[in-house]
Parts: sequence; structure tokens; C-alpha cells
Amino acid sequence: MPPHLVVTDDLVAAACRLFLKAAPQTLVLAGGNTPRPLYTALAALDYPWDTVQVFFSDERCVPHDHPDSNYGMATATLLNHVAATAYPFPTDCDAFGYETALREVFRGEDTPTFDLAFLGLGADGHTASLFPGDAALREAEHWVARVLRSDHPRLTLTLPALAGVDQAVYLVRGADKREAVRRVLAGDDLPPNLVQARHATILAAPDAAP
Ligand code: 6PG
Repeated sequence: MPPHLVVTDDLVAAACRLFLKAAPQTLVLAGGNTPRPLYTALAALDYPWDTVQVFFSDERCVPHDHPDSNYGMATATLLNHVAATAYPFPTDCDAFGYETALREVFRGEDTPTFDLAFLGLGADGHTASLFPGDAALREAEHWVARVLRSDHPRLTLTLPALAGVDQAVYLVRGADKREAVRRVLAGDDLPPNLVQARHATILAAPDAAP
């Protein structure tokens, strides 16, 4: 079933409300630009961050101080300001090594158990670094996959890993995303419709709403 659409003039405030309602102890952060103001706002919330384990939907295999690093962005906006425990992807693109670490955190579980996952949506319908038609979408066992892209090689959580998400919240802003939102809501064969989260919401700014 496609995600539920919520259109809001204030993406950050709406996402903060969803965060507080979910009260996550395991949290997945999206990369890209859209989440930046949200992460800054989350850092200002009175929340027991010392109980939170933070993971990432995907990462470009670059040093953490590289401008394209999702971990670097999350650190500057949120993780430097709260007492959460973060599990960044390795910069050396070692998918197996990170999967081993993830399976240790969620020892004994068939999937990771993520209470809340903030995810992005690309204009082509990708989420995390799961791109339409990419082989990583066919990964049915491993929790982490390596994806080769023109900008950087990437690591991404796979569909088996995202199947452990309780609440998936896609943060979408920009008229360039409108068609992708329309196609996801129509049930098209795009990565968000392959993510088997228990609940899924597209939180869209008006310019991204079909
Ligand atoms: C990444 C992502 C990716 C991102 C979308 C939307 O590393 O690029 O995690 O899935 O969330 O491409 O990116 P914007 O928010 O910058 O539009």
C-alpha cells in the first residue's frame, strides 16, 4: 500500500510532531538537503537523546568532513548537539563490515528494528540510495548494499533492512519531486512502494504535492 500523504506548510514542525509522537529509541536519518532544518530543530527538542541509537538510510563513501557526507551533515545539525549514539556507515564503503556491526546491534533479530526512519525522495523516485532498476533493490538477504553512482560510491540500507521500520516518514520538498510523489501515491513500481515499513507517510511541502 502506498504511503499516506500529508501536505504541510511547515515540514519541520510537522516532522517534529511525528518524531515526538513516535518517541523513537532507534532512529534512521536520511541524507540530502531537505532534512537539514529538521535536524537542527530536533537538536533543540527536550528529548532523552541519551536513550537513542541513530542510524543512516545511506551514505556516500567520502570522509565525514566531505561536503557530500550525510553523516557530516547530520553531525553538524544534530549529533554534535545531543547525546545520542550514532552508527555511521564506514567511509571505506565496507558493506559487509557495516552489516556485521548492524547485526551485532540487533543481535537475534531477523531485521533491524527501527522505530522511526526519516527518508528522502529523489525526483527519479529513489529513496536512500535505492534507485529505480538498480541491482540493490533485488537484494533479498543482506541489510547493506554498495551502490555505484556517478558522484560517489554509496552504501545503503536495503529493502530487507528497511522492512524493520515501524514508521517511515518521507520528507519531500520542491516542485521537482511532485511527479515522483504522484507516481508513488499511484502505486507505481518505485522504491518507496517496495519499502515494507509498518506505517509510511509522505510529509510534503505544498510545492511537492501533486
Ligand atoms: C542521499 C539520500 C537521498 C536523498 C534524496 C533527496 O544520500 O542523497 O539519502 O535518498 O534523501 O536524494 O535529497 P534532497 O533532500 O537533497 O532533495
